[in-house]
Amino acid sequence: MTTIPQVTLNDGLLLPAVGFGTYKLNGAAGINSILSAIDTGYRLLDSAFNYENEGALGEAVRRSSVPREALIITSKLPGRHHKYDEAITTIQESLFRAGLDYYDLYLIHWPNPSKDLYVEAWQALIDAQKWGLIRSIGVCNFLPEHLDRLIKETGVTPSVNQIELHPYFSQEKQRAYDKEHGIVTESWSPLGRANKLLQDPDIKQIADAHQKTIPQIILRWHVQLGAVPIPKSSKPSRQLDNLSLFDFKLNDEEMQKIGRLSHADGRTYNQDPAIYEEF
Ligand SMILES: NC(=O)c1ccc[n+]([C@@H]2O[C@H](COP(=O)([O-])OP(=O)(O)OC[C@H]3O[C@@H](n4cnc5c(N)ncnc54)[C@H](OP(=O)(O)O)[C@@H]3O)[C@@H](O)[C@H]2O)c1
Repeated sequence: MTTIPQVTLNDGLLLPAVGFGTYKLNGAAGINSILSAIDTGYRLLDSAFNYENEGALGEAVRRSSVPREALIITSKLPGRHHKYDEAITTIQESLFRAGLDYYDLYLIHWPNPSKDLYVEAWQALIDAQKWGLIRSIGVCNFLPEHLDRLIKETGVTPSVNQIELHPYFSQEKQRAYDKEHGIVTESWSPLGRANKLLQDPDIKQIADAHQKTIPQIILRWHVQLGAVPIPKSSKPSRQLDNLSLFDFKLNDEEMQKIGRLSHADGRTYNQDPAIYEEF
Protein backbone atom coordinates (compact mmCIF):
# COMPACT_ATOMS: atom_id res chain seq x y z
CA MET A 1 0.00 0.00 0.00
CA THR A 2 1.20 3.54 -0.81
CA THR A 3 2.71 5.45 2.11
CA ILE A 4 1.31 8.96 2.08
CA PRO A 5 3.51 11.77 3.45
CA GLN A 6 1.93 14.09 6.01
CA VAL A 7 1.78 17.82 6.59
CA THR A 8 1.57 19.37 10.06
CA LEU A 9 -1.23 21.83 10.82
CA ASN A 10 -0.76 24.91 13.04
CA ASP A 11 -2.35 23.01 15.96
CA GLY A 12 -0.14 19.95 15.51
CA LEU A 13 -2.64 17.67 13.72
CA LEU A 14 -1.00 15.58 10.99
CA LEU A 15 -2.82 15.72 7.68
CA PRO A 16 -2.11 13.22 4.87
CA ALA A 17 -0.72 15.02 1.80
CA VAL A 18 -3.63 13.65 -0.31
CA GLY A 19 -7.21 13.07 0.79
CA PHE A 20 -10.43 11.65 -0.60
CA GLY A 21 -13.40 13.80 -1.68
CA THR A 22 -16.88 12.37 -1.14
CA TYR A 23 -19.20 14.83 -2.88
CA LYS A 24 -21.92 12.77 -4.65
CA LEU A 25 -20.99 9.57 -2.81
CA ASN A 26 -24.25 8.79 -1.00
CA GLY A 27 -26.24 5.82 0.19
CA ALA A 28 -25.13 2.20 -0.17
CA ALA A 29 -23.08 2.86 -3.31
CA GLY A 30 -21.42 5.75 -1.48
CA ILE A 31 -20.51 3.50 1.45
CA ASN A 32 -18.87 1.03 -0.95
CA SER A 33 -16.85 3.77 -2.67
CA ILE A 34 -15.66 5.27 0.62
CA LEU A 35 -14.84 1.81 1.98
CA SER A 36 -12.79 1.03 -1.11
CA ALA A 37 -10.97 4.38 -0.74
CA ILE A 38 -10.04 3.50 2.85
CA ASP A 39 -8.88 0.04 1.72
CA THR A 40 -6.79 1.68 -1.01
CA GLY A 41 -4.97 3.74 1.61
CA TYR A 42 -6.80 7.08 1.92
CA ARG A 43 -6.80 8.31 5.51
CA LEU A 44 -8.13 11.86 5.02
CA LEU A 45 -11.84 11.81 4.17
CA ASP A 46 -13.74 14.97 3.18
CA SER A 47 -17.48 15.22 3.75
CA ALA A 48 -19.97 18.04 4.52
CA PHE A 49 -23.32 18.48 6.22
CA ASN A 50 -24.64 19.66 2.85
CA TYR A 51 -23.43 16.55 0.95
CA GLU A 52 -25.97 14.53 2.95
CA ASN A 53 -23.46 11.72 3.26
CA GLU A 54 -22.09 12.03 6.78
CA GLY A 55 -24.17 8.90 7.49
CA ALA A 56 -22.59 6.93 4.63
CA LEU A 57 -19.16 8.12 5.70
CA GLY A 58 -19.71 7.03 9.31
CA GLU A 59 -21.02 3.66 8.17
CA ALA A 60 -17.98 3.11 5.91
CA VAL A 61 -15.70 3.96 8.86
CA ARG A 62 -17.51 1.41 11.06
CA ARG A 63 -17.33 -1.31 8.37
CA SER A 64 -13.64 -0.67 7.68
CA SER A 65 -10.94 -2.68 9.39
CA VAL A 66 -8.85 0.50 9.72
CA PRO A 67 -9.16 1.89 13.27
CA ARG A 68 -11.14 5.11 13.52
CA GLU A 69 -8.14 6.84 15.19
CA ALA A 70 -6.07 6.25 12.04
CA LEU A 71 -8.50 8.35 9.98
CA ILE A 72 -8.75 12.12 9.61
CA ILE A 73 -12.48 12.72 9.13
CA THR A 74 -13.69 16.09 7.91
CA SER A 75 -17.10 17.72 7.72
CA LYS A 76 -18.35 21.26 7.11
CA LEU A 77 -20.79 23.75 8.57
CA PRO A 78 -23.44 24.88 6.05
CA GLY A 79 -24.10 28.59 5.41
CA ARG A 80 -27.64 28.54 6.76
CA HIS A 81 -26.39 27.70 10.27
CA HIS A 82 -23.74 30.37 10.90
CA LYS A 83 -25.52 31.80 13.96
CA TYR A 84 -23.65 30.68 17.07
CA ASP A 85 -26.36 28.49 18.65
CA GLU A 86 -27.34 26.93 15.34
CA ALA A 87 -23.69 26.24 14.51
CA ILE A 88 -23.21 24.37 17.79
CA THR A 89 -26.38 22.33 17.21
CA THR A 90 -25.30 21.58 13.63
CA ILE A 91 -21.87 20.34 14.71
CA GLN A 92 -23.63 18.02 17.19
CA GLU A 93 -26.06 16.91 14.45
CA SER A 94 -23.11 16.26 12.08
CA LEU A 95 -21.64 13.95 14.72
CA PHE A 96 -24.96 12.14 15.30
CA ARG A 97 -25.41 11.62 11.55
CA ALA A 98 -21.97 10.07 11.23
CA GLY A 99 -22.25 8.19 14.52
CA LEU A 100 -18.90 9.65 15.58
CA ASP A 101 -17.76 11.11 18.91
CA TYR A 102 -15.55 13.70 17.26
CA TYR A 103 -14.48 15.08 13.88
CA ASP A 104 -10.78 15.48 13.23
CA LEU A 105 -11.36 18.54 11.10
CA TYR A 106 -14.44 20.75 10.82
CA LEU A 107 -14.62 23.62 8.35
CA ILE A 108 -16.92 26.58 7.69
CA HIS A 109 -18.14 25.67 4.19
CA TRP A 110 -18.53 29.20 2.69
CA PRO A 111 -18.07 32.68 4.21
CA ASN A 112 -21.35 34.05 2.77
CA PRO A 113 -20.16 37.63 3.36
CA SER A 114 -23.52 39.34 2.75
CA LYS A 115 -24.90 37.61 5.88
CA ASP A 116 -21.85 38.65 7.90
CA LEU A 117 -22.14 35.79 10.40
CA TYR A 118 -18.95 33.89 9.70
CA VAL A 119 -17.13 35.28 12.78
CA GLU A 120 -19.99 33.99 14.95
CA ALA A 121 -19.71 30.61 13.21
CA TRP A 122 -15.96 30.63 13.83
CA GLN A 123 -16.52 31.27 17.54
CA ALA A 124 -18.77 28.20 17.61
CA LEU A 125 -16.03 26.08 16.02
CA ILE A 126 -13.50 27.43 18.55
CA ASP A 127 -15.77 26.42 21.43
CA ALA A 128 -16.63 23.02 19.92
CA GLN A 129 -12.89 22.36 19.66
CA LYS A 130 -12.47 23.26 23.35
CA TRP A 131 -15.25 20.82 24.26
CA GLY A 132 -13.53 18.01 22.33
CA LEU A 133 -16.09 17.69 19.52
CA ILE A 134 -13.51 18.66 16.89
CA ARG A 135 -9.73 18.25 16.88
CA SER A 136 -8.84 20.89 14.30
CA ILE A 137 -10.84 23.82 12.91
CA GLY A 138 -10.64 25.52 9.56
CA VAL A 139 -12.52 27.16 6.73
CA CYS A 140 -13.27 26.81 3.03
CA ASN A 141 -13.44 29.46 0.36
CA PHE A 142 -12.18 32.23 2.65
CA LEU A 143 -10.51 35.23 0.99
CA PRO A 144 -7.74 37.21 2.77
CA GLU A 145 -10.25 39.81 4.00
CA HIS A 146 -12.38 37.08 5.66
CA LEU A 147 -9.35 35.42 7.26
CA ASP A 148 -7.98 38.75 8.48
CA ARG A 149 -11.26 39.36 10.31
CA LEU A 150 -11.36 35.90 11.94
CA ILE A 151 -7.82 36.31 13.20
CA LYS A 152 -8.33 39.91 14.38
CA GLU A 153 -11.65 39.31 16.13
CA THR A 154 -10.97 35.93 17.75
CA GLY A 155 -7.18 35.58 17.82
CA VAL A 156 -7.53 32.06 16.38
CA THR A 157 -6.08 31.28 12.95
CA PRO A 158 -7.76 28.48 10.95
CA SER A 159 -5.62 25.38 10.43
CA VAL A 160 -6.88 24.81 6.87
CA ASN A 161 -8.38 26.83 4.03
CA GLN A 162 -10.01 24.52 1.48
CA ILE A 163 -10.34 26.37 -1.85
CA GLU A 164 -11.00 25.65 -5.52
CA LEU A 165 -7.57 24.90 -6.91
CA HIS A 166 -6.44 23.16 -10.10
CA PRO A 167 -4.13 24.04 -13.02
CA TYR A 168 -6.76 26.26 -14.69
CA PHE A 169 -7.17 28.24 -11.44
CA SER A 170 -3.94 28.09 -9.50
CA GLN A 171 -4.78 30.60 -6.72
CA GLU A 172 -1.25 31.96 -6.41
CA LYS A 173 -2.22 34.92 -4.19
CA GLN A 174 -4.50 32.96 -1.85
CA ARG A 175 -1.88 30.23 -1.48
CA ALA A 176 0.74 32.84 -0.63
CA TYR A 177 -1.58 34.40 1.98
CA ASP A 178 -2.34 31.00 3.52
CA LYS A 179 1.35 30.08 3.67
CA GLU A 180 2.32 33.40 5.23
CA HIS A 181 -0.26 32.81 7.99
CA GLY A 182 0.63 29.16 8.61
CA ILE A 183 -2.64 27.92 7.11
CA VAL A 184 -2.54 24.72 5.02
CA THR A 185 -4.32 25.04 1.67
CA GLU A 186 -6.49 22.10 0.63
CA SER A 187 -7.53 21.90 -3.04
CA TRP A 188 -11.16 21.17 -3.88
CA SER A 189 -12.05 20.02 -7.39
CA PRO A 190 -8.32 19.30 -7.77
CA LEU A 191 -9.05 17.62 -11.12
CA GLY A 192 -11.42 20.40 -12.22
CA ARG A 193 -14.24 17.94 -11.64
CA ALA A 194 -13.05 16.04 -14.73
CA ASN A 195 -13.69 18.91 -17.16
CA LYS A 196 -11.49 19.60 -20.20
CA LEU A 197 -8.47 19.82 -17.90
CA LEU A 198 -8.23 16.02 -18.14
CA GLN A 199 -7.58 16.34 -21.91
CA ASP A 200 -5.11 19.21 -21.69
CA PRO A 201 -2.36 18.68 -24.34
CA ASP A 202 0.41 20.32 -22.28
CA ILE A 203 -0.29 18.11 -19.28
CA LYS A 204 -0.59 15.09 -21.58
CA GLN A 205 2.95 15.74 -22.82
CA ILE A 206 4.28 15.77 -19.26
CA ALA A 207 2.25 12.65 -18.43
CA ASP A 208 3.74 10.78 -21.40
CA ALA A 209 7.26 11.79 -20.37
CA HIS A 210 6.72 10.30 -16.89
CA GLN A 211 4.56 7.39 -18.05
CA LYS A 212 1.85 8.62 -15.71
CA THR A 213 -1.78 9.61 -16.30
CA ILE A 214 -2.95 13.22 -16.62
CA PRO A 215 -4.75 13.08 -13.23
CA GLN A 216 -1.54 11.82 -11.59
CA ILE A 217 0.47 14.71 -13.04
CA ILE A 218 -2.16 17.21 -11.87
CA LEU A 219 -2.30 15.74 -8.36
CA ARG A 220 1.50 15.60 -8.12
CA TRP A 221 1.54 19.31 -9.10
CA HIS A 222 -0.76 20.05 -6.13
CA VAL A 223 1.47 18.11 -3.76
CA GLN A 224 4.60 19.92 -4.98
CA LEU A 225 2.83 23.28 -4.54
CA GLY A 226 2.32 22.31 -0.90
CA ALA A 227 -1.47 22.08 -1.29
CA VAL A 228 -3.44 19.01 -0.17
CA PRO A 229 -5.69 17.73 -2.99
CA ILE A 230 -8.83 15.75 -2.15
CA PRO A 231 -9.79 14.03 -5.44
CA LYS A 232 -13.10 12.20 -5.54
CA SER A 233 -13.62 8.99 -7.48
CA SER A 234 -16.29 6.35 -7.19
CA LYS A 235 -14.00 3.86 -8.98
CA PRO A 236 -11.40 1.77 -7.11
CA SER A 237 -8.91 1.78 -10.02
CA ARG A 238 -9.00 5.60 -10.21
CA GLN A 239 -8.79 5.87 -6.43
CA LEU A 240 -5.54 3.92 -6.59
CA ASP A 241 -4.21 5.96 -9.53
CA ASN A 242 -4.95 9.18 -7.66
CA LEU A 243 -2.91 8.02 -4.69
CA SER A 244 0.09 6.76 -6.67
CA LEU A 245 1.94 10.07 -6.68
CA PHE A 246 5.01 9.50 -4.60
CA ASP A 247 7.33 7.58 -6.93
CA PHE A 248 8.11 10.48 -9.28
CA LYS A 249 8.78 14.25 -9.26
CA LEU A 250 7.96 17.09 -11.63
CA ASN A 251 10.91 19.32 -12.45
CA ASP A 252 10.79 23.13 -12.19
CA GLU A 253 10.11 23.55 -15.89
CA GLU A 254 7.16 21.13 -15.73
CA MET A 255 5.77 22.85 -12.63
CA GLN A 256 6.00 26.22 -14.38
CA LYS A 257 4.44 24.89 -17.57
CA ILE A 258 1.41 23.67 -15.60
CA GLY A 259 1.34 26.94 -13.63
CA ARG A 260 1.06 28.91 -16.87
CA LEU A 261 -2.27 27.19 -17.71
CA SER A 262 -4.03 29.20 -15.00
CA HIS A 263 -6.31 32.06 -16.02
CA ALA A 264 -8.36 34.67 -14.12
CA ASP A 265 -11.71 33.16 -15.17
CA GLY A 266 -10.54 29.57 -14.72
CA ARG A 267 -13.06 28.67 -12.00
CA THR A 268 -15.10 25.62 -13.02
CA TYR A 269 -18.48 26.99 -11.91
CA ASN A 270 -17.71 30.70 -11.48
CA GLN A 271 -17.98 30.46 -7.68
CA ASP A 272 -16.17 33.59 -6.48
CA PRO A 273 -16.50 33.59 -2.66
CA ALA A 274 -16.74 37.40 -2.65
CA ILE A 275 -20.09 37.07 -4.46
CA TYR A 276 -21.13 33.44 -4.63
CA GLU A 277 -22.90 32.19 -1.50
CA GLU A 278 -24.06 28.75 -0.49
CA PHE A 279 -26.49 27.90 2.24
N1 LIG B 1 -15.33 23.21 0.14
C1 LIG B 1 -15.99 23.31 -0.98
O1 LIG B 1 -16.67 24.32 -1.23
C2 LIG B 1 -15.95 22.18 -1.97
C3 LIG B 1 -16.49 22.36 -3.25
C4 LIG B 1 -16.41 21.29 -4.12
C5 LIG B 1 -15.81 20.09 -3.75
N2 LIG B 1 -15.32 19.93 -2.48
C6 LIG B 1 -14.66 18.67 -2.04
O2 LIG B 1 -13.61 18.39 -2.95
C7 LIG B 1 -13.75 17.05 -3.43
C8 LIG B 1 -13.15 16.90 -4.81
O3 LIG B 1 -13.74 17.80 -5.73
P1 LIG B 1 -14.81 17.36 -6.84
O4 LIG B 1 -15.51 16.12 -6.43
O5 LIG B 1 -15.63 18.58 -7.10
O6 LIG B 1 -13.96 17.14 -8.16
P2 LIG B 1 -12.61 16.35 -8.56
O7 LIG B 1 -12.12 15.52 -7.46
O8 LIG B 1 -11.71 17.39 -9.17
O9 LIG B 1 -13.12 15.45 -9.77
C9 LIG B 1 -14.04 14.41 -9.57
C10 LIG B 1 -14.41 13.87 -10.94
O10 LIG B 1 -13.23 13.37 -11.58
C11 LIG B 1 -13.43 12.02 -11.94
N3 LIG B 1 -12.15 11.35 -11.72
C12 LIG B 1 -11.51 11.18 -10.54
N4 LIG B 1 -10.33 10.57 -10.71
C13 LIG B 1 -10.20 10.35 -12.03
C14 LIG B 1 -9.20 9.74 -12.82
N5 LIG B 1 -8.08 9.25 -12.28
N6 LIG B 1 -9.39 9.69 -14.17
C15 LIG B 1 -10.50 10.20 -14.73
N7 LIG B 1 -11.49 10.78 -14.03
C16 LIG B 1 -11.35 10.86 -12.69
C17 LIG B 1 -14.55 11.51 -11.07
O11 LIG B 1 -15.30 10.52 -11.72
P3 LIG B 1 -15.61 9.07 -11.07
O12 LIG B 1 -16.17 9.30 -9.69
O13 LIG B 1 -16.60 8.50 -12.03
O14 LIG B 1 -14.30 8.35 -11.05
C18 LIG B 1 -15.42 12.76 -10.90
O15 LIG B 1 -16.25 12.94 -12.02
C19 LIG B 1 -15.28 16.85 -3.38
O16 LIG B 1 -15.64 15.50 -3.54
C20 LIG B 1 -15.58 17.46 -2.04
O17 LIG B 1 -15.25 16.55 -1.00
C21 LIG B 1 -15.37 20.98 -1.58
